[in-house]
Amino acid sequence: MKIIESRAELQTWSDGERAAGRRIALVPTMGALHSGHLSLVAEARRRADRVVVSIFVNPTQFNDPGDFAAYPRVMEADLASCREAGVDVVWTPRAEELYPDGASSWVDVEGLSEPLCGGGRPGHFRGVTTVVAKLFLAARPHVAVFGEKDFQQLAVIRRMTGDLGFGIEILGGATVRESDGLALSSRNVHLGRKARGQAICIVESLSLAESMLAQGERGSRAILEAVRKKLGEATLARIDYAELRDPASLELVGDVIQGPTLLAIALQFEPDPALPEDSDPLDRGNRVRLIDNRVLVPTD
Ligand code: PAJ
Repeated sequence: MKIIESRAELQTWSDGERAAGRRIALVPTMGALHSGHLSLVAEARRRADRVVVSIFVNPTQFNDPGDFAAYPRVMEADLASCREAGVDVVWTPRAEELYPDGASSWVDVEGLSEPLCGGGRPGHFRGVTTVVAKLFLAARPHVAVFGEKDFQQLAVIRRMTGDLGFGIEILGGATVRESDGLALSSRNVHLGRKARGQAICIVESLSLAESMLAQGERGSRAILEAVRKKLGEATLARIDYAELRDPASLELVGDVIQGPTLLAIALQFEPDPALPEDSDPLDRGNRVRLIDNRVLVPTD
């Protein structure tokens, strides 16, 4: 496995692989790799001859500097996971190279990047699309794999790739979960003990909506009310959003669910106020925002 830091070196490697007729897959990540990321690597291996994983905690997509500073960075463990997963190249760009002094060019996808996570995190998707465009230009993959857990991110990147004519196939990978259903996330380590227990109400609310639909409920309001009630069981969290949207346009659905509908949820957990500030962070937890989603499909 090659570990490459410089963009020029990655481009030279990529040009060589392309010239030899080999297909390249890229899996962009911010590191702290877990089995969710590794499932994307496995999909990449099925779809290409060479797999590149980029590891870069992208400063421009964080609107909270505290969140950026606290983001887990575990390069040695990540390299070991990549080696074991059969990755060919790990690209670890330096921020100074991706964002040279005075960099003022951005890629912004209007519309799709505005609701949901775009509402509460202004500039977040502009940071994501800008860095992913830079990753695409350097790695020049034939295919790139992103997780469906970040449904809106996947939609925004698909749109950017089409709009700018990158000619890269974008694949979505299914969400990998803990045994109790909580979606794996690099941020889960910041959940305190009580918050971790409460966090399963997210996946429970997705399943609740799905079963209501299966039992014939088609009213958006009734479903969202039940979802919000379920999410309310997480007393350490506040609901950032819980919305039903069209999975393609991300527009809000009307009163009656007619076709496949995205249920997207974001919960913001706070440290447990019952515990003193100097108590073990594993117990008390930090601020952490979790997202999850499911596409609900009415059966008749
Ligand atoms: P990161 O959060 O590290 O996620 C990297 C990729 O892993 C994303 O495509 C994400 O959707 C996927 N992923 C995360 N959790 C997953 C899970 N439980 N199951 C399956 N896939 C999962 O998303 C980013 O980084 C960044 O925004 C990035 C695209 C790298 C741009 O900086």
